[in-house]
Amino acid sequence: MKFFIDTANLAQIKEAQDLGVLDGVTTNPSLMAKEGISGDTNVIAHYKAICDIVDGDVSAEVISTDFEGMVREGEALAALDEKIVVKIPMIKDGVKALKYFSDKGIKTNCTLIFSAGQALLAAKAGATYVSPFIGRLDDISTDGLGLIENIRLIYDNYGFETEILAASVRHPMHIIECAQIGADVMTGPLSAIEALLKHPLTDIGLAKFLADHAKANS
Ligand code: E4P
Repeated sequence: MKFFIDTANLAQIKEAQDLGVLDGVTTNPSLMAKEGISGDTNVIAHYKAICDIVDGDVSAEVISTDFEGMVREGEALAALDEKIVVKIPMIKDGVKALKYFSDKGIKTNCTLIFSAGQALLAAKAGATYVSPFIGRLDDISTDGLGLIENIRLIYDNYGFETEILAASVRHPMHIIECAQIGADVMTGPLSAIEALLKHPLTDIGLAKFLADHAKANS
């Protein structure tokens, strides 16, 4: 299972990269705005800075909602670095753009997936990744992980190569359950990734080992 970090914050991306378990980064316009990144030149420079930190795929989202605009933006983004994955929203022109980029061998991430039907359509159009937003579904009392299960079943039925990128991950149990279901990738905040390493018995056990060692060597 690949681990992506869902942020545009360079310090957090570097911290996750330094941990040695990072496979990529996802961003979106809200995350870029949160870091105060605006204007084409700054946005481009920021994507380049992210690509310089990580080894894996970096999702960069288009702002256009028409086919021609998405193609224009996506081609410019893809030209920045071979790590760039063009992030396309699940709308009608987005499906056409997914097919266009797929035919050209440019990697895509179809975002804002909230149903199995949308995921099926994105796979048919040749998306490299689909991003079902599990946290946002949970927020409205709908089963986010159930959606991941449904997509896994459908993709396995037909051997679709599109990777399931579980997005809108909020906590470590989301990551563990996505791994149990067989999501190919998860993207979440650094806090959820770091929460995986914590257990009180580990802390208690380590304190005891160190205390016993100190006693024996005093
Ligand atoms: C996916 O790529 C999105 O950037 C992201 O996971 C959305 O998560 P949120 O619901 O926490 O905003």
